[in-house]
Amino acid sequence: MLTRGDENPPSRRMKRYWKIAVLANIKDDTHPKPEGVPPDAFADYDHIETIDSIRAALETDGHQTVFIHADTDLPYALRDEKPDICFNIAEGLGGDAREAQVPALLEMMQIPYTGSRVLTNGISLDKTLTKRIWRDRRLPVAPFQEFSAGDESLRPELNFPLFVKPAREGTGMGVDMNAIVNNEKELRERAMYIIDTYQQPALVETFLPGREFTVGILGRADAKSYSRHPEWYEKDGFHRFPILELDSSRSVTPLVYSQAAKSKDVGEEGAPGYFCPAEIEPELEKKLKYFALRAHQLLYALDVSRTDIRLDEEGNPRLLEINTLPGLTPDYSDLALQAKAEDIRYEDLILDILYLGASRWGMVEPRELSAEPNKKK
Ligand SMILES: Nc1ncnc2c1ncn2[C@@H]1O[C@H](COP(=O)(O)OP(=O)(O)OP(=O)(O)O)[C@@H](O)[C@H]1O
Ligand SMILES: [Mg+2]
Repeated sequence: MLTRGDENPPSRRMKRYWKIAVLANIKDDTHPKPEGVPPDAFADYDHIETIDSIRAALETDGHQTVFIHADTDLPYALRDEKPDICFNIAEGLGGDAREAQVPALLEMMQIPYTGSRVLTNGISLDKTLTKRIWRDRRLPVAPFQEFSAGDESLRPELNFPLFVKPAREGTGMGVDMNAIVNNEKELRERAMYIIDTYQQPALVETFLPGREFTVGILGRADAKSYSRHPEWYEKDGFHRFPILELDSSRSVTPLVYSQAAKSKDVGEEGAPGYFCPAEIEPELEKKLKYFALRAHQLLYALDVSRTDIRLDEEGNPRLLEINTLPGLTPDYSDLALQAKAEDIRYEDLILDILYLGASRWGMVEPRELSAEPNKKK
């Protein structure tokens, strides 16, 4: 039976060093892709080097680590390895909420893990649902419409050019120059291509021609009590990373931060320009950080996220999507670049994600024992 009743340490709080399982799906470039999957399938899976970097970071604080593939053998591997906590970056194996699969399994097995929970990871993968929630609470999003069949009539508020992308993918999958459509014919063709190739609805939005930013958030109300770096967190418990601007104008896909552009190394020919901190007016900076934090909170995201935002024709920010499992490849992933821009060491970033997660499971003593921390309800 897949329970952990056989090993229940008297008090995890008393245990200084943990056995941590890093859970991820790994890119396998050595084998051909199975038939019937999109050309960029599995683009959001991690390279084993990223796992090695995360493990090395966790081990700097004395913990023991093990890597477990988040495949269909995961439940059995967890039963055998019996980790104290899992550092979860698994993207999942398919279906309509794949990023929620591993959190769901861990909750079923009552194993502590880092980052956002099932509901948040399920919803945030779905860009349409996410935008409906944000729009309901008055966060600015571009006009949008979901196409499930491809022949739906276009709503009057959607004017060309439009942008068409899979409703439930990440890492620029299904996003290239053909995502920008200028007329009905192109729209129908692209929507049908997305629906057929990615086996999911196409999200159609107003094309946002302005600058593009991504805003990272770390923490929660009681973060100062559990962090190794309480000085990172503002009064409300959140750290806003310096804003990263993605300049795609000279990338392989001008104007679009596509899968092809994302797969280039930073500084490589055809890669986007990465500017962090972005050169922006303080007023815009304040707005972007506020929107990213609200975006995080409205989806009940936990501890870490990255929200992508673009400016519309008039220069107003519009939220594109939130990444509740942001990439963590050192010197490459957006969040890692943002941390580096303010001299936050990669090891420290990873360890804070660990301790914020662990504290939710009662594994960490709060720093100020006299002060009652703001427990999450
Ligand atoms: N409405 C839009 N107008 C203009 N460009 C857009 C629009 N929507 C998306 N893009 C472009 O496509 C890119 C990918 O879109 P988006 O961020 O929604 O998807 P993603 O693939 O999930 O990204 P991530 O890698 O952050 O998970 C954006 O970074 C942006 O450059
Ligand atoms: Mg994005």
